[in-house]
Amino acid sequence: MQQNYDPSATPWHINERDYPSHDSLIEKEKFLLQYALLAPSKYNIQPWRFDVNEKEVQFWLDPACWLTASDPNRRELHISIGAALENFLIAAEHFGFGHTVTYFPEAGKPEWIASVLLSPNGSPSPFRKDKKLFYAIINRHTSRAVYEALAIPKVDLNQIKNCCIESEIELYLTDDLALKKEIDELMIRADALQFANSAFREELNFWMKEGGFDASWIIAKMGRLATAYLHQDGSSPDGKQNALSHAPFLAVLYSKEDDHKAHVQTGQVFERIALSAASLGVQLQPMTQIIEVPQCREEFKPLVSLENAYPQHIFRLGYGSREKSHTPRRPLNELLL
Ligand SMILES: Cc1cc2nc3c(=O)[nH]c(=O)nc-3n(C[C@H](O)[C@H](O)[C@H](O)COP(=O)(O)O)c2cc1C
Repeated sequence: MQQNYDPSATPWHINERDYPSHDSLIEKEKFLLQYALLAPSKYNIQPWRFDVNEKEVQFWLDPACWLTASDPNRRELHISIGAALENFLIAAEHFGFGHTVTYFPEAGKPEWIASVLLSPNGSPSPFRKDKKLFYAIINRHTSRAVYEALAIPKVDLNQIKNCCIESEIELYLTDDLALKKEIDELMIRADALQFANSAFREELNFWMKEGGFDASWIIAKMGRLATAYLHQDGSSPDGKQNALSHAPFLAVLYSKEDDHKAHVQTGQVFERIALSAASLGVQLQPMTQIIEVPQCREEFKPLVSLENAYPQHIFRLGYGSREKSHTPRRPLNELLL
């Protein structure tokens, strides 16, 4: 049967009513992948590529997306693909599929990140059965607004915490103002070290155009850097500069191992949290520069009592205005191998 959705339409306009319920498994898998590609990714780089057949859906990493300056170990590329994988699994469960995920199916093919085998009549996993996660996929976005000094209710915070179910990945949350200020300062230092590196600046410049994301937050970041250095007399910069201190919560996802499977799983947990937060009206922004600069990552560990673990992803949570529009996505037909 002919597919009844238009793969060239704006990816954010996907509608569950267009699910090709009478078509082949391959057409259904392609439909579900339209949710995968709405995932967040570093610099909106969208490093995922997909291979689809009657047996399985394969998730591949596009080596052309390698950020050699800011992500030499490809840690964040794997986190990004993990987020896409999670969207796919949530959508698959929403349409009644069970699934088996195999991570890194073939030794010697490090870019083959995962294979997903779908089975009909699956029951949703306990942590994905909340339909709100599925519906949040098309609403989620990164918010770089200044967050209000409003506490997140305990019940909502618990819902966010409950997204973290993998035994390998854990969530650290803090609302300690003094600690957030200390981490804010470390972030400014990490930014300064990154911007001093010409390879980092060139890479950022290239992907700002490729990823098509709004550059105003980078400019704000540079303003923050300038303000931080202009305030070396001890006076404190205004609220807009201290984005983290003003957010109710700082969150850190960390793992016991620092291998690529842990990175992919971090991405899965992160996306579940981002969707859960979106469904609760809580905004979120990753702030990952500390982890990208090795010396800052080491300095960060004792601040959050994670001496024997690996911080993988840092983000702030709170209430702020929504972005005016979604960041662009490549259509599925450009991503199929
Ligand atoms: C691994 C990873 C790292 C990211 N790091 C940052 C960051 O340091 N600062 C930031 O503002 N956004 C960061 N982001 C958010 C991306 O820029 C954002 O997901 C992308 O531009 C797509 O926009 P969207 O999330 O609104 O769909 C990160 C996202 C991921 C997945």
